[in-house]
Amino acid sequence: MNVRIAPSILSADFAALGDAIATVERGGADLIHVDVMDGHFVPNLTMGPPVVKSLKRVAKVPLDVHLMITDPDKFIGPFAEAGADMISVHVEVLPHLHRTIGAIKQLGVKAGVVLNPATPVIAIKEIAGDVDFVLVMSVNPGFGGQTFIPRSESKVAEVRAVLDAAGNVAPIEIDGGIDLKTVGRVVRAGARILVAGSAIFHAPDPERATVALRAAADAALASPASR
Ligand code: DX5
Ligand code: ZN
Repeated sequence: MNVRIAPSILSADFAALGDAIATVERGGADLIHVDVMDGHFVPNLTMGPPVVKSLKRVAKVPLDVHLMITDPDKFIGPFAEAGADMISVHVEVLPHLHRTIGAIKQLGVKAGVVLNPATPVIAIKEIAGDVDFVLVMSVNPGFGGQTFIPRSESKVAEVRAVLDAAGNVAPIEIDGGIDLKTVGRVVRAGARILVAGSAIFHAPDPERATVALRAAADAALASPASR
């Protein structure tokens, strides 16, 4: 499986999101990661369906919408309608996760589940056969630019084992503190979709930063230690 690069526009200039997307697309971005925060589940507020609708007009690559909100069931429909191609929801807020995953798929959208750093991998065991991807948070969600939590590396490998046991080849996405220093470790652990916000948009040249991250990911994938 190839590695996909998903720049997070959370660290881009919100007054120029269209330009930010075009820049990383020139650098070979595979997805655009959109961080939705409600000020309740996480201590920050970002954007909603109207912004996703506008992004959809300009993005050439799929939109990967990460819902960091307390009531995702209420907003899956509006985000799907706005043009989300992938929607991920946090297991921590969903008592009926199986139903939510089914609802996302029903809308023709790829469905992902997200694990916070303190959430054990066992939380996704019963749903492992049903998801299109699993997102492992390698920082506590809410802000860009935080430090990678080293334990996430072995957690990715644990999630891979749970998916494999369920016979699911779904990719693992990783989000938080991914840069040229951490990329090799997470790819070797089994991550195949790499979210990067500050490492790309706070770089002097986001297009080149996207290219560099992919090169580092591909090098790790080719190395013998890679799974
Ligand atoms: C954090 C968000 C991330 C964030 C990552 O809550 O889910 O997607 O943009 O930013 P970096 O790559 O700077 O850690
Ligand atoms: Zn995110």
